[in-house]
Amino acid sequence: MTEKVQAVGRERVTGKENGSGKRIYLGTNTKMYKTIADTRAYLSALKELTADIPEEQAELFVIPSFTSLAAAREILQGSRIRLGAQNMCWEDQGQFTGEISPLMLKELAVDLVEIGHSERRHVFGETDEEERKKVTAAVRHGFRALLCVGETLEQKEYGISDEVLRIQLKVGLGDMRPEDGGRLMVAYEPVWAIGVHGIPAGEDYVNERHRVMKQTLAELLGEEAAREIPVLYGGSVNPGNAVPLIRQPDVDGLFIGRSAWEAHDFNRIIRSVLEAQT
Ligand code: PGA
Repeated sequence: MTEKVQAVGRERVTGKENGSGKRIYLGTNTKMYKTIADTRAYLSALKELTADIPEEQAELFVIPSFTSLAAAREILQGSRIRLGAQNMCWEDQGQFTGEISPLMLKELAVDLVEIGHSERRHVFGETDEEERKKVTAAVRHGFRALLCVGETLEQKEYGISDEVLRIQLKVGLGDMRPEDGGRLMVAYEPVWAIGVHGIPAGEDYVNERHRVMKQTLAELLGEEAAREIPVLYGGSVNPGNAVPLIRQPDVDGLFIGRSAWEAHDFNRIIRSVLEAQT
């Protein structure tokens, strides 16, 4: 078990190009929706619907609730869909009631850990410094860390979106070294674009932010490591904007909420995005 878990966690991602088009990353976080039974049904359907998608074209991942992870792992055996956790404590163990440790996630053979989602930052008050500790612990334990960043509407209106993103990246990834590049993913999720009241961000605006973020990653870790880090966009992605978004040169993938929570809907978005790549 331990060996297998480590093998999964240690697998490296390659940034993008695979010859014809970029390799894209498509994932969903089911937030505090879907019970174990719901997750089983959803993943069984998604696994079957996406079974023919070559891994070199797209990397798919699903991040269900903690309580669903064991069932999800079981269902995803033999599937290329990666499994993620929505959060993680930076400590291995201790007096942290209600927290989930990296060792507990290792037991479940989780591939990636989502860190700093907008709701963690803005509903539960997590700070950049805490996200840094979580990213560092995740990478140390062999998981891939998916760091989420994004400005609020107020910050956007002050014209400081790029400054905010640079701070979130520079602090959140502050302990990373160039050799950690293959263990990192970043999701740009503007707070104002997320959820039922979200306003989808325009593709040009998204690409500009992604460009700034990629420059920041290069400053932090060097050009080569930065090229290994996929930068995904999330926030009201839907069947209508998925293709224009993925066509942006600096958008490496999409991180989808509501529009991906039915397996058929997610599969349709995946197919449309893959088609747009060819
Ligand atoms: P949404 O959620 O697609 O429902 O806006 C995105 C997210 O929170 O990651």
